[in-house]
Amino acid sequence: MSNETMKAWVIDKFGGPEVYRVAELPIPTPGEGEVLVKVQGSSFNPADWKVREGHFGSREFPLVQLFDVSGVVASTGAGVTEFGEGDAVYGVTYTGAAAEYAVVKADHLGPRPTLMDPADAAVVPVAALTAYQALFDHGQVTSGQKVLIHAGAGGVGSFAIQLAKWAGAFVYATGSARNHHLMRELGADECIDYHSAKFEEVAKDVDMVLHSIGQDQVSASLQALKPGGRLVAISADPLASEAEAQGKVAIGFSMVPATEQLRKLEGLIQDLIVRPVIDTVVPFDRFVDAMNEVQQGHTVGKIGLRI
Ligand SMILES: NC(=O)c1ccc[n+]([C@@H]2O[C@H](COP(=O)([O-])OP(=O)(O)OC[C@H]3O[C@@H](n4cnc5c(N)ncnc54)[C@H](OP(=O)(O)O)[C@@H]3O)[C@@H](O)[C@H]2O)c1
Repeated sequence: MSNETMKAWVIDKFGGPEVYRVAELPIPTPGEGEVLVKVQGSSFNPADWKVREGHFGSREFPLVQLFDVSGVVASTGAGVTEFGEGDAVYGVTYTGAAAEYAVVKADHLGPRPTLMDPADAAVVPVAALTAYQALFDHGQVTSGQKVLIHAGAGGVGSFAIQLAKWAGAFVYATGSARNHHLMRELGADECIDYHSAKFEEVAKDVDMVLHSIGQDQVSASLQALKPGGRLVAISADPLASEAEAQGKVAIGFSMVPATEQLRKLEGLIQDLIVRPVIDTVVPFDRFVDAMNEVQQGHTVGKIGLRI
């Protein structure tokens, strides 16, 4: 460990927003296969407050929060050949990015889309990788298929609409009416206001559903699928047996960071095919306010943290 220190948002126990504090911690040293990133930005995901509340099981404290990272390589550990000091990178860390420095596994990093402001680029990794993996690795979406994307104005949904369109799918997207203009701009063919319509009565015989909302809606999502269709759940039990009984496939998964897919997303952003939707990027000292906002569950796009 270095003798130098850095500022970080940490928790020392599970709880509400009151457990946050800014700590002065030693700058970590990257181990084998790891990279030390001088962080320029991070971003908020619902997983962050869920970790803080203890929903994802035990953790070591003090725990530095946030998974998304964007910055510049400060140093590399043994065996890292793909990245070198000064490289502009983005990716996912499991040891906290709400800090001036973060250690990231080299295979969880990719070259950052330089078209974006360095802090802004941190809104991409978790949400975009989740959307990409849901649609293509698990949902097997191909051109000409019909896809239903829930929460189309949210972090994952706003990337998923664009990626599904890029793949040539017909896209149904759910969200409040006030966000339909945005969802259409992103590529949604048909927007469904979940306050006034039952989505399963509008989106019928779809090939794939990206289920990112509540458990109480999973059966309705299954109903929207055609026989043989695939439900991919990222926020609920996918009810695999119920799906199987209907001749459908339902799976749940957790996003796994991968350099190759971060590269792919970087290319799509640089080519202006995917446009990250950013609600706001807050300074370091507004961390708690931003996290509270995300926990409300009505963010449009993503909220970033500038470091
Ligand atoms: N498994 C994984 O690896 C993984 C990875 C990332 C995220 N997730 C999970 O996926 C979920 C979504 O993540 P996110 O980052 O996209 O969240 P988010 O950005 O916070 O989602 C906010 C959006 O959800 C919409 N929304 C809320 N309730 C809705 C409903 N009943 N129907 C349609 N839209 C609704 C809101 O629209 P309105 O304002 O119109 O309500 C808002 O635009 C979270 O539960 C998260 O934990 C899982």
